[in-house]
Amino acid sequence: MAKIYINETNKISHINPELYGQFSEHLGRCIYEGLYVGEDSDIPNVNGMRTDVIEALKKIHVPVLRWPGGCFADEYHWKDGIGPKEQRKKMINTHWGGVVEDNSFGTHEYFELCRQLGCKTYINGNVGSGTVQEMSEWVEYMTFNGVSPMADLRAANGHEAPWKVDIFGVGNESWGCGGNMRPTYYGDLYRRYQTYVRNYNADAPILKVTCGPNVNDYEWTEKVLDTCFNPSPCHLHGFMDYLSLHYYTTPGPWEHKGSATEFSAEEYYCTLHKALYMEELVEKHGAIMDRYDPEKKIGLAVDEWGTWFDVEPGTNPGFLYQQNTMRDALVAAVTLNIFNQHSDRVKLACIAQMVNVLQSMILTDKEKMLLTPTYHVFHMYRSHQDSDLVENKIEGVKTEGGAMYEVPVLQQSVSVDKDGVLTLTVANLSLEQSCPVEVSFKKLTPGLVQASILTDEKDACNTFDRPDRVVERSFDDVTVVERGLKFVIPPCSVVSLRIR
Ligand code: AHR
Repeated sequence: MAKIYINETNKISHINPELYGQFSEHLGRCIYEGLYVGEDSDIPNVNGMRTDVIEALKKIHVPVLRWPGGCFADEYHWKDGIGPKEQRKKMINTHWGGVVEDNSFGTHEYFELCRQLGCKTYINGNVGSGTVQEMSEWVEYMTFNGVSPMADLRAANGHEAPWKVDIFGVGNESWGCGGNMRPTYYGDLYRRYQTYVRNYNADAPILKVTCGPNVNDYEWTEKVLDTCFNPSPCHLHGFMDYLSLHYYTTPGPWEHKGSATEFSAEEYYCTLHKALYMEELVEKHGAIMDRYDPEKKIGLAVDEWGTWFDVEPGTNPGFLYQQNTMRDALVAAVTLNIFNQHSDRVKLACIAQMVNVLQSMILTDKEKMLLTPTYHVFHMYRSHQDSDLVENKIEGVKTEGGAMYEVPVLQQSVSVDKDGVLTLTVANLSLEQSCPVEVSFKKLTPGLVQASILTDEKDACNTFDRPDRVVERSFDDVTVVERGLKFVIPPCSVVSLRIR
């Protein structure tokens, strides 16, 4: 019997909605076909955005969408993606499959997509192969309200009013595909480039993301903070609002990461063991950040995370198209629980990527669309957004996976929303054990509990022939007791409870 203790009267930290963010890159079929089909497509669309995908994404309340990359961002020249579509420059997408990028999806289309999703905007600028002037003019084009060369150009291209850029990334993976830089060199470049990311609208400041570490590169974190985090009266947070962290979960080595759908129990536990490593990364990078920023003014932005497996057989290796199983659902569930539990420092996170690439919410095949198990987890966790983490702990949890890939059988997080409704999300990582759980509250005797569950075999997935195999179902076996709850959580499952 596992026991979850919840002190619902003690709020620990705010869970920024942006922890549930998404990432969409010009990669494979994420933007083209996945999100954008063009106005002349037979696939139903509004201003080129496919209606089925947008409607599904609205249900998970996408809070923010990062674009245009990824590695693509440091090769992207925004002026190629504005103006009449037939005149837009065609280029080779060298990073991703060597296909022709016709730039039919550019700045105007991105803001239209975010408008339809009702989400915040997160643009990633080009430091690797772009100039300061180019970055500065992009910000002017998007946000300046008045007479200026770039604002005039925006108006000439059909958008008189400025848009709102909520978040701006100054370079992506500058330690790798974004320029192979060393931390102090990048740090100095960052200071220079970010100077020209002007805030033209005092009421809507652009929050800036500094390129942070790859996985456990603690030296990068240290040196970049040393160079860029420099509080002064005129730069309240120094020069930055977030430091990014990228970490992907791959069971095998880079050359053979393993199949997304055919894997052993050992590979299952290995994957979850590696997903749980996120907690150590957040804590250790967070500890370095604490030394520079004890008041936690800047956030850790885990703006690329998720599973990365071998591509589906027969698909373009540069398109990173993979299926999505209950194993992915468990990875999403434990990672989001970790983010909630560390929401004092983790302020932004974007799973990679939203459609048809890596750990997606949605897969498409021309006019067909399916929701992945990961989508259902995001749906089950949506009430954590904009809530407050409350004090919680779990006891009596066994482990599985052996000495090599040991994982706790259960893992959880708990929040309370503005109306006082609690959300408790629990993952059972075990492939065999059903777990009886006893929840006790400090004061609350629950009046009403709504619960749902996602559960199936470890490799169960949704296919275009059978899109509804793995779906969120209602979970009725919850017993209310005085100041508590009791339920049994089946193996390989995720449960979400809304408690009043
Ligand atoms: O998400 C795929 C790629 O992974 C991104 O383009 C890059 O930033 C990372 O290496």
